Amino acid sequence: MNFELTLNPTIEIKADIELIIVVNKDLKHSFVQDRKLLKKAGFLAGQNETSLLVSKDRIYVGVDSLSSVNIRTAIATAIRALTSTTYRTLKIASYMNHEKCTALLRAMVEGFILGAYSFNRYKSKKVKQPIKEITISLEEYHGYKLNIEKCATALNKGQITAEATNFTRDIVNTTPEDCYPKVMADIAEELAEESSLECKILKPKELRAEKMETLLAVARSSRHKPRVIHLSHKPQNPKAIITLVGKGLTYDSGGLSLKPSASMVTMKLDKSGGCAVLGIMKAVEEMGLNVEVHGFIGAVENMIGGDAYKPDDVLVAKNGKTIEIRNTDAEGRLVLADVLCYAQQEVKADYIFDYATLTGASVVAVGHYTSSVVGNSDKPKDLIISGAKSSGELATKLDFNSYLKQSLSSEIADICNISSSRYGGAITAGQFLEEFIDDDHKDKWAHIDIAGPAFVEHVWGENPHGASGAGVRMTLRLLEKLAKD
Ligand code: BES
Ligand code: ZN
Ligand code: ZN
Repeated sequence: MNFELTLNPTIEIKADIELIIVVNKDLKHSFVQDRKLLKKAGFLAGQNETSLLVSKDRIYVGVDSLSSVNIRTAIATAIRALTSTTYRTLKIASYMNHEKCTALLRAMVEGFILGAYSFNRYKSKKVKQPIKEITISLEEYHGYKLNIEKCATALNKGQITAEATNFTRDIVNTTPEDCYPKVMADIAEELAEESSLECKILKPKELRAEKMETLLAVARSSRHKPRVIHLSHKPQNPKAIITLVGKGLTYDSGGLSLKPSASMVTMKLDKSGGCAVLGIMKAVEEMGLNVEVHGFIGAVENMIGGDAYKPDDVLVAKNGKTIEIRNTDAEGRLVLADVLCYAQQEVKADYIFDYATLTGASVVAVGHYTSSVVGNSDKPKDLIISGAKSSGELATKLDFNSYLKQSLSSEIADICNISSSRYGGAITAGQFLEEFIDDDHKDKWAHIDIAGPAFVEHVWGENPHGASGAGVRMTLRLLEKLAKD
């Protein structure tokens, strides 16, 4: 999909179809040129409601107001509505009428690219998005003077952000037969070959040397050997040093504490945290952000077999803490424990964020569309929350408390890998991870449980059926902010 910015008014732009956004309260006004036809078609300009007027070569979409979130989802819905048409080129006005206008332009571009996404790898008949060229008119709108350079930057950032999100979606949607730890490592190496990113891959021999025994235990019964991936982006005088850690469970069967059949379906999603880190690293490099960013991914498959780790085992994590295993399905936290320790050993960061489809309890607590954010300190959590707000992703804080922490205590080891209570699982999972954050990083760390939004089996807003790329957009906004400060 190519974008062009022009100062010409839409009327002077040649395109197969025009996309027109209507704020629902404006529908009755005379400046809505097709309002009689739209009335006939029953169009009320509700948020994300579309009406395609083929005879006019115009598609209308409604919004509640001209906010970034509304524009992004409306554009995504409209571009989806054109999927089976033969229109190739599209024009649209910029709808910018205040100083935050470039945010609207970025939202628009993201809406087009995110909405046009489809995962075709396993379809004999590929769904192709027909629209190839989009021209956005930057003619003065409501008298507001536009800064063309800022508009071009917003367009570029929107493109990079949305393409990185789609890149993440593609990897998550790939089956466990085609995407296993070595494949994730190959993807990281390929990213580094094509860019200025550095890449280091740790294979089982190196993982043993690093004493990452809990990660190795989870990986043991799979025919696919684990990998730890370290990608880095190192500008010369960075404004900050940031570490990102991702859970990359290329499949989670639950292990010997086997998941029920229905819960196992979709568990290819369990690599979403790691895939988000891959997408973020790609975009950070393409944007050339002036922050040093390290992405660590624990890529592992959790399977059953004669050599599987078991409930009743006691494992020793990289930092020496002993863990009583009472459920092998709580494997993500074991992988993250070792990777968090390794990441902190390798990099002294200003902030450390980890991304994981860690608990079903997070989905119970906050629903399918929202990530839950935990940690010891408000600063890193608030950074993520505000990144999410400006990106269109949803994230909310859950607070730690000392009573829940007690439910992780073990009679025979330093800590247990599951809580003794069936409630508060998203918080206790975070409190388990806290045990593997060293004192220097305690107030610099936040854990983002993306189990809700990472993979949803229906279309929602700008997200498709399946992988959404959760975590990518919120983190890019956060990193862009840190790069400016
Ligand atoms: N990968 C799952 C969590 C998950 C569940 C992600 C549903 C997305 C959707 C994780 O490894 C897991 O199985 N967690 C257990 C923890 C429990 C055993 C304490 C869970 O949530 O049931
Ligand atoms: Zn699990
Ligand atoms: Zn898992």
